[in-house]
Amino acid sequence: MIAHLVTGIGELVTNHPGCGDGPLGLLPDAALVVEDGRVAWVGPASAAPAADARTDVGGRAVLPGFVDSHTHLVFAGERSAEFEARMSGVPYDGGGIASTVAATRDAGEDALRARLATLMAELRAQGTTTVEIKSGYGLSVADEERSLRLAREVTEETTFLGAHVVPPEYRGRTDDYVALVTGPMLTACAPHARWIDVFCEPASPHAFDGDASRAVLEAGRGAGLGLRVHGNQLAPGPGVRLAVELGAASVDHCTFLTDADIDALAGSDTVATLLPGVEFSTRQPYPDARRLLDAGVTVALATDCNPGTCFSSSMPLCIALAVREMRMTPAEAVRAATAGAAAALRRTDVGHLGVGARADLTVLNAPSHRHLAYRPGVPMVHRPFEE
Ligand code: NIG
Ligand code: FE
Repeated sequence: MIAHLVTGIGELVTNHPGCGDGPLGLLPDAALVVEDGRVAWVGPASAAPAADARTDVGGRAVLPGFVDSHTHLVFAGERSAEFEARMSGVPYDGGGIASTVAATRDAGEDALRARLATLMAELRAQGTTTVEIKSGYGLSVADEERSLRLAREVTEETTFLGAHVVPPEYRGRTDDYVALVTGPMLTACAPHARWIDVFCEPASPHAFDGDASRAVLEAGRGAGLGLRVHGNQLAPGPGVRLAVELGAASVDHCTFLTDADIDALAGSDTVATLLPGVEFSTRQPYPDARRLLDAGVTVALATDCNPGTCFSSSMPLCIALAVREMRMTPAEAVRAATAGAAAALRRTDVGHLGVGARADLTVLNAPSHRHLAYRPGVPMVHRPFEE
């Protein structure tokens, strides 16, 4: 087995507080050894063992690759006109999803696959190494199955989101659509999915109320899928408490939270995933990350990359927004984008760089993780192992 030494690390983010400074477990002047795709040794560069190969990263910061635990990357078309209207005051209510559904149904499989590959390359270039991908722009048995099959070609973290909105042909017949989602659609999609998700948002005329959401999640659990929820994006509602009650791995958005929602999250294993790119792109108020963190809730950051509410694949942008707009410290934001998001996917092999972790390294063209927020909009990722 080849041992590859990565040395000259100016700052190593281990995410093991016992292993270095602060919540990120920072090690200065560090090195690590990679064997068979896993971290085999971590420590001071001065104590590094002999290895078969060696890469010196020249004093740069090295982080665990970002974990983007919430994306919708299988779609056709774009909605820049909707974005422009929103910037001049038209509120988001989920109604635009139908136009992406129409474009996605019309698209050929090769076109969807090519678009997905382009987006995946975009994510990777910005330091993301683990990606969750949801369906939700097919909304028929065949189109949802196709979306998940394509997503599975590029990631194991696939999520069935048949309950994204009620599609036009079921308008006014939500119960019939929920029966389709929890019946034949789930049967066709479950073999390609690890998770099930629902857009639980009674404030949207297009999404699902608490009862319908519960039916979807319970059916998914019955089919062996883990649970995730889009909740409390547009208004306070039942999403967060439903997610906690059913033991969901994550509830995502969390823009409008009550005290009871925070208390429920604090006493649970459900991660609160914040998606600040959405607030940026919809002109909503940002979630109260400080209240969540101060209550002891595990917080994740993800992009939500999708053509409606946030057409950005940039985890560095999310980190910068989390620091500037949600008052997270740079360390809290980096932790949320790595270890927090790994927890949101219930993964222990990614999101940290302890011995045994996957050797998913993100190398910055900078000496410290702080530069991700300090230099917003600047390409920060150096890829010494790929170029
Ligand atoms: O996570 N809120 C629901 N779904 C997506 C948006 C999808 C769209 O507008 O196309 C979200 O924000
Ligand atoms: Fe989403």
